[in-house]
Amino acid sequence: MTQPAFHRDNGTLFVEGVSAADLAAQYGTPLYVYSRAALTAAWHAYADACAGRRATVHVAVKANSNLAVLNVFAREGAGFDIVSGGELARVLAAGGKAANTVFSGVGKHPDEMRMALEAGVKCFNVESIPELDRLNAVAGELGKKAPVSLRVNPDVDAKTHPYISTGLKSNKFGVAFDEARATYRAAAAMPHLHVVGIDCHIGSQITEVAPYLDAVDKVLELVDQIESDGVQIHHIDVGGGLGIRYDDETPPDIGEFVRTVLDRIEAHGAKTGKTREVYFEPGRSLVGNAGILLTTVEFLKPGAEKNFAIVDAAMNDLARPAMYEAYHAIEPVTERAGAAPTYDIVGPVCESGDWLGRERSLAIEAGDVLAIRSAGAYGFVMSSNYNTRPRAAEVMVDGTRVHVARERETVQQLLAGEHLLPD
Ligand code: LLP
Repeated sequence: MTQPAFHRDNGTLFVEGVSAADLAAQYGTPLYVYSRAALTAAWHAYADACAGRRATVHVAVKANSNLAVLNVFAREGAGFDIVSGGELARVLAAGGKAANTVFSGVGKHPDEMRMALEAGVKCFNVESIPELDRLNAVAGELGKKAPVSLRVNPDVDAKTHPYISTGLKSNKFGVAFDEARATYRAAAAMPHLHVVGIDCHIGSQITEVAPYLDAVDKVLELVDQIESDGVQIHHIDVGGGLGIRYDDETPPDIGEFVRTVLDRIEAHGAKTGKTREVYFEPGRSLVGNAGILLTTVEFLKPGAEKNFAIVDAAMNDLARPAMYEAYHAIEPVTERAGAAPTYDIVGPVCESGDWLGRERSLAIEAGDVLAIRSAGAYGFVMSSNYNTRPRAAEVMVDGTRVHVARERETVQQLLAGEHLLPD
C-alpha cells in the first residue's frame, strides 16, 4: 500500500480510492465498510513471518464471518478457526477448506461434530473429558477417527479486560493445567480419537508478547510430559489474541510477535530433537483495523450535564462499548471548521448503556456522517436485532470498486418465521 487504506484527502476520509461520504450517500447508514487492501496486508504480516517455517495461520472466523471477508483470506490460502457448525458452513461457502480448519469451542453439539467429521476438519480443539466422550461416540457412529487437540489452560494472566481473558484458572475455558496429562492419557485410550496436538488461547486484545511466552513455556513443559507418557504431539496451537491499536495502545508488530513465538518453540524443539508445527488463530489483528462503521448524526441534544449526539447506529450494531466499555475512535468523515463541543455519541436504542463513544470533542451538525474506527473485528458479528432494528449493510472497498458484501436487512426479513397464535 502506498498510503494507508483509511486516509484523509483534503479533510475527507477515504477508504482506499473511495470517499466515505460517497459510500454513506450511496448505501445508507449504519454501514460497515471493509478495505480489501487492509485485510490482505494484515494477512501477509502473519503469512510472511510464517514463510519457510513450520507454521500455519487459521483465521478466527468469530471476529468477522462475512463471506466476502472470509473469501479474501481463502484466496490467500488461509486456514480457519471455527466455533460452530454455522461457522463451518461459512468457511465452506467462502471457498475455505475443511482440511485447513480447526474446530474450537467449549460446547460442541453432536450435530456440529457430525458435520465437521463428515467435512473432514483438520482438528477438534477439545476442552473437557465429557466432550472427548461425546466426540469419541459420534466418531464411532460414523466409523471415523477424530483428530483431537486438548485446549489446556496455562493459568497465565494476559492482562486484558476480564471479559476477554480466557487463560486463567477461574475461566470456563480449557482443561486445567494439573489435569492435562491425565486427560491426554484418557483421550489416547479412546478408540475413535487420534491425538494430534495441544492448544491454548489466553485471551484477546493482548498488547504484550510476555504472556504468550509464559503460556508457551508452560505448554512446552506439558508437551514433554505427555510425550513421555507415549502420546505424540504433532502441533502446538498458540491461539489468537494479539491486540490492535484502538486509541494509544502499542501492541507488538505482527511479524515480530510471530517470530518471537516461533523462535521460542523451535529452540525447545532443537533441545529435545523434535520439530512440531505451530498454529496461530488470529481474529482481531487481521480484521479489526480493516473496518469502520459509518453512522449519521440524527440530532444534537444539549443536556443538563452532557451534550448528546444521537446517531443512527446503536449498541445493536456495535456492542463493544456497551459490553466492555471499549473505546473506538470516532471522527467526522468530512471535517468541518468551528467549535468542537464535547458529546456522548449515543444510539436510538432504549437503554442508557446504548453508547458508542463518551466525551468526544467533535465539530459536527445533524446530518453529518461519522466514522467509528477499528470496527472490523467483533463488530457486525456481534450485532443483534434488539429494538427490531434490521442489521446494517456491509461493503468491501477494493481500490476504486465497491462490493456489497451483505445487503441491509429488512424489517420483513425480521418478521419472517414468526407466527401469530391460531384462531
Ligand atoms: N481462538 C480462540 C479459541 C478464541 O476464543 C478466540 C477469541 C480467538 C482465537 C481469536 O482471538 P483474537 O485474535 O480475535 O483476539 N468479543 C470480544 C472478543 C472475544 C474473543 C473471543 N475469543 C471483543 O469484542 O473484544
